[in-house]
Amino acid sequence: MKLLWTGGIAAAAVLVLAGVWASEGGSPLKMGDEALGSRTYEQYERPASCRQCHPEIYAQWKNSMMAQSFTHHWDEIEYFQLAVKHAELDPKFKPVADGCNGCHAPISFLAGDVPPPRPDKNSRANEGVSCEVCHTISAFDEDRLFNFHWHSSPGRTKFGGRGGENSPAHSLVANPGLQTAKFCATCHNEKSPWGVYVKGTYNEWRDGPYSKENVQCHTCHMPAGPGRRAVTDGKRYEDMRHHLFHGAHVEAKTRGAIDVVLHASQEEAEPGEPVVVTVHLFNQKAGHKIPTGSVEDRLLYLQVDAVDSKGNSYPLSVDRKGFEGEEWTIASSDAVAYQDLRYVMGLGDDFVGLPRDGVRTGNRIFRMPYFTEKGEMTICQWNTARFGVDYRIGPRENKLETFTWVLPDTLPPGPLVVTATLHYQLLVRPVAEFLKVPEEEYRDRMINSGSVVVEILP
Ligand code: HEC
Ligand code: HEC
Ligand code: HEC
Ligand code: HEC
Ligand code: HEC
Repeated sequence: MKLLWTGGIAAAAVLVLAGVWASEGGSPLKMGDEALGSRTYEQYERPASCRQCHPEIYAQWKNSMMAQSFTHHWDEIEYFQLAVKHAELDPKFKPVADGCNGCHAPISFLAGDVPPPRPDKNSRANEGVSCEVCHTISAFDEDRLFNFHWHSSPGRTKFGGRGGENSPAHSLVANPGLQTAKFCATCHNEKSPWGVYVKGTYNEWRDGPYSKENVQCHTCHMPAGPGRRAVTDGKRYEDMRHHLFHGAHVEAKTRGAIDVVLHASQEEAEPGEPVVVTVHLFNQKAGHKIPTGSVEDRLLYLQVDAVDSKGNSYPLSVDRKGFEGEEWTIASSDAVAYQDLRYVMGLGDDFVGLPRDGVRTGNRIFRMPYFTEKGEMTICQWNTARFGVDYRIGPRENKLETFTWVLPDTLPPGPLVVTATLHYQLLVRPVAEFLKVPEEEYRDRMINSGSVVVEILP
């Protein structure tokens, strides 16, 4: 176990660490699954008690997904109707279903309250990833940057990025580990029971260009700017860390994340001629692949249409590139998936799966399919044994898609406008409809669009 602990260990930190060792009888720090039930609820303060002195940060956090990690609809549905249900039907999945809470309701996990009561019971699970979750993390294991391998040391001491003078409410210890992407990795990397990374946002970032330039997750998701980190100390910081944690649920974040720029093989063409339209998709905004994180849920797809001078519309289909597994990346109304819901949810034998894509046949889909041991494509990350082709758009990658179209003989002269639109759904529609997830969670969001004009000669 290699602990990522404070860089130039502050004296206080050593004492705290020693204290932790002593209080735990010298046994190794409990992290990950081993921490289940190692604490009590009473050891943790509620977010409301931090609000009085940190109102600005509280308001930001409250609006973020961190505060809704247990309560929001899709999480509730997937956890209770799929994961908990699956564990009831097949006890071998009980530990992994309990483990959901290690990231989504960490205080309940630490208190051993799993599964926690449903959100409408308003239990402490509803606090989600609260202030106390992150600011009691005193150490994490650098060799196991996945599945909540951090150690929680609740108490008067709070761990922050820069430390500071102690306030009447708490003492502070700087844990520079919190300022690194590795800290985020402990929850944003996830391994399934088969040992595969079913979430790999940190790994994608590590292998991409941003890590080399020292651009941490914080730069984009906890941006620095003027602010008062506490109302009681009177100080104003020019570089306060704003707790926005804005991701795919914030349209301002996803909008324009990928450029969509087109060019055609010729500026003018005659009916009957083939025209090749190329779409460039450049991931200019994200420090990781798109989609990342809950890749099994998300649907990122490109749709291209041509409209002639009389307003008739023609759907175009993407050209095949011929790589292995490509069939999973081209939408097809015939494709069926998610057959595993039958035994995950205990449905009858007549359940044969759901439509795989729910978007127009011939659209390009940027995805990495998740497969069960039996080879069914699944949205259940805990049931994932392996992956299909990784056809997502990497950080600063420019993916090119071509659409070859033999112009119909009937095409009227004048401008032919070819438009490409890149859409994002947080949950693939057929699954969302089947599980009755609120529309807001899966409606189509436009990431970007672009067009090019070809002049049709008479
Ligand atoms: C009575 C007011 C008060 C309350 C209540 C309070 N804090 Fe603070 N906190 C402060 C002050 C003041 C500072 C800034 C100290 C400084 O700048 O020297 C601070 C700073 C911090 C920092 C920054 C540490 C760093 O290393 O950058 C963290 C983290 C923090 N508080 C967490 C919490 C949490 C979590 C709670 C709720 C459990 C909480 N605070 C409740 C007054 C308070
Ligand atoms: C250069 C800026 C940048 C960096 C660095 C960055 N991100 Fe992102 N992140 C984005 C953008 C833009 C989006 C929105 C597009 C998307 O959903 O992928 C995003 C989306 C996300 C999402 C939501 C993905 C989804 O579809 O649900 C998560 C989670 C996330 N980032 C976590 C991280 C973590 C963890 C790190 C560090 C390991 C990180 N990000 C580094 C810019 C960045
Ligand atoms: C997901 C983890 C996470 C959660 C949840 C979280 N914080 Fe933080 N917080 C951080 C990290 C990481 C930093 C340090 C960032 C840095 O210095 O680069 C930080 C910094 C701070 C700071 C110091 C800001 C500065 O720029 O000096 C305060 C104060 C603070 N947090 C209070 C809170 C309070 C209050 C809450 C709940 C309303 C909260 N945090 C929730 C991760 C979290
Ligand atoms: C204790 C676990 C934990 C830690 C540590 C953590 N996160 Fe998260 N984060 C979560 C969970 C759980 C969610 C998902 C909430 C949901 O949608 O259910 C989330 C959501 C997010 C989102 C929103 C994603 C979306 O789809 O909109 C962003 C962005 C994000 N985290 C960034 C970060 C960054 C940056 C760090 C490090 C500074 C970090 N997280 C540390 C658990 C954590
Ligand atoms: C290692 C930490 C971790 C574990 C374990 C984990 N999750 Fe998550 N989960 C996350 C993070 C981080 C996100 C946000 C990533 C993103 O937005 O793409 C997330 C996102 C989700 C989402 C999508 C939320 C949305 O709004 O789109 C659902 C649903 C979900 N998790 C359910 C579960 C279930 C059920 C389990 C247990 C089988 C589980 N998670 C286990 C960290 C974890």
